[in-house]
Amino acid sequence: MNNRNLSDFIILPCLILLASDAGITDVRVKRLSEPTIDNKTSILARYVVSLRTRTPFRYYGDNHFCGGVIISLTFIMTSAHCLIDSQRLMLSSRDILIVAGAPNRLKYFRHKNVHAPVAKILIHENFTIYNTNDLALLKLVEPLPTDNQYIAVMRLPTEEPKLGNKYTVLGWGRLFHGGPLASDITQITVTLYSHVACELMLNVFTDEMMCAGNMDHRDINPCGGDLGGPMIDDDIVYGIVSYRIGCGHIELPSVYTNIFGNLEWIDSIMSQNRSYRLYNCVAFLLLVININFYV
Ligand SMILES: *[C@@H]1O[C@H](CO)[C@@H](O)[C@H](O)[C@H]1NC(C)=O
Ligand SMILES: *[C@@H]1O[C@H](CO)[C@@H](O)[C@H](O)[C@H]1NC(C)=O
Ligand SMILES: *[C@@H]1O[C@H](CO)[C@@H](O)[C@H](O)[C@H]1NC(C)=O
Repeated sequence: MNNRNLSDFIILPCLILLASDAGITDVRVKRLSEPTIDNKTSILARYVVSLRTRTPFRYYGDNHFCGGVIISLTFIMTSAHCLIDSQRLMLSSRDILIVAGAPNRLKYFRHKNVHAPVAKILIHENFTIYNTNDLALLKLVEPLPTDNQYIAVMRLPTEEPKLGNKYTVLGWGRLFHGGPLASDITQITVTLYSHVACELMLNVFTDEMMCAGNMDHRDINPCGGDLGGPMIDDDIVYGIVSYRIGCGHIELPSVYTNIFGNLEWIDSIMSQNRSYRLYNCVAFLLLVININFYV
């Protein structure tokens, strides 16, 4: 018993050091202003889920790898990138656990946290290595409970998001570039930029992408672990974090998948009820390069 405790004591700081070592730069700008959960964040947190592997590595919640958003009691929306592992293979639905109602990633509350296994992974047919249509839906085995006040369903947009407007992005991603994952869910406010501005700042930028940031002040961008999380206004989800090139950069925005532009696909998946068919992803998987959620 004592030995075990002693080794925990030694190993934990090492793990934290290792984790924060990845991709370290001189830029260590804290990207979020609210370290504790305030009322507004906890209200918005009801819509957000943590995508985890089936079992924790050492501690409850240390297996978080992406965010997602509840768009119906049986469907979670996330980034397609989140469903590809470090060996570039598509995860199996059996590998994933959705955790809802848990704004604190590391704490388990019996009547609050809901652990929902996934029945099907549905990746957008036009998702490519260039992050086009970076979107996926996860169909849950069982619908989420309706009597849990910590869980709520987000609405899909009925119009394009407005350029220049501010949107909220939520997640448990790294607190700064190379830093540790947040334990309490955090939120950032980003401004949506025009297509032309995004194209000027980014190398790869296609029509259905959106870019947003907050370059007037400090680095306010999603970081590793925030992929798949929602960009929202009130209870409407306009975007999904697609890639976080902005993390640690004051001058670079991050890229989001435009939900309004993908409504047709989302509706087609949610309305159909046909049995699972294998997606023709093998060719695509061979192409996928260098994916790392956390750096
Ligand atoms: C906090 O949110 C709850 C609903 O979740 C609400 O009833 C309460 O009035 C809010 N408190 C403040 C100070 O806004
Ligand atoms: C995928 O791309 C093809 C070719 O551009 C297009 O015809 C099709 O509608 C797209 N699918 C979806 C769901 O957007
Ligand atoms: C749709 O699928 C669910 C399970 O995924 C099943 O319970 C339900 O009966 C199906 N509905 C129809 C109309 O096939």
